[in-house]
Amino acid sequence: MSKATKTTNEVRNAIQNRRTVKKFKKEAVPTQQIIELLDTAVWAPNHKLREPWRFLLFTGNGRKKLAEAIDAEMGEDNKFSANITQVPAVMLVVLEEDPRQNIWDEDFAAVSALVQNFMLAAWSEDIGTFWVTKPFLYAPKFRKPLGIEAGEKIIGMIYMGYPDVIPSAKERTPAKDKVTLFE
Ligand SMILES: Cc1cc2nc3c(=O)[nH]c(=O)nc-3n(C[C@H](O)[C@H](O)[C@H](O)COP(=O)(O)O)c2cc1C
Repeated sequence: MSKATKTTNEVRNAIQNRRTVKKFKKEAVPTQQIIELLDTAVWAPNHKLREPWRFLLFTGNGRKKLAEAIDAEMGEDNKFSANITQVPAVMLVVLEEDPRQNIWDEDFAAVSALVQNFMLAAWSEDIGTFWVTKPFLYAPKFRKPLGIEAGEKIIGMIYMGYPDVIPSAKERTPAKDKVTLFE
């Protein structure tokens, strides 16, 4: 249990106690379970129900395909691709970009909400997650072999697996310090 305060509210507890997990056990996470977690995550608020997302899921031997795409951009001597084949499952979350700025902003927000939903739902089933963003996610040499088109933005890589180590909580600034109150 983290240092986060325990309340009697399950949703609040789930939000406060989820931790970013970077060390996973080797055990695979069932693909069917990941899909079911996504089926929960897609209940994220999204304007006009545009559902502006798609997912690339890498498990088992499929993780080599992701490692090869990283190598194509970074060269074979890089720490990411070796590491990524040790992570039980990795999912790229992709935003289907709208050229209109206001729609793009809404859709980016919606996909971010989906990712948080996914991480919370996973945590509630003892699956740890790590939201990873790296410069190579923007590189054509990385994107092309994975079929990620122009007009698609990778929101992040979500590493997942059963936690080997759960880090302690990093405290947050009390909200009252960030609130400008009008009453
Ligand atoms: C958009 C986004 C990108 C992130 N990218 C990274 C990353 O590349 N490397 C990393 O160590 N953590 C990354 N994180 C995780 C944060 O560092 C982590 O959420 C933060 O330290 C708080 O820890 P907690 O999630 O356990 O509360 C990212 C989080 C978000 C929301």
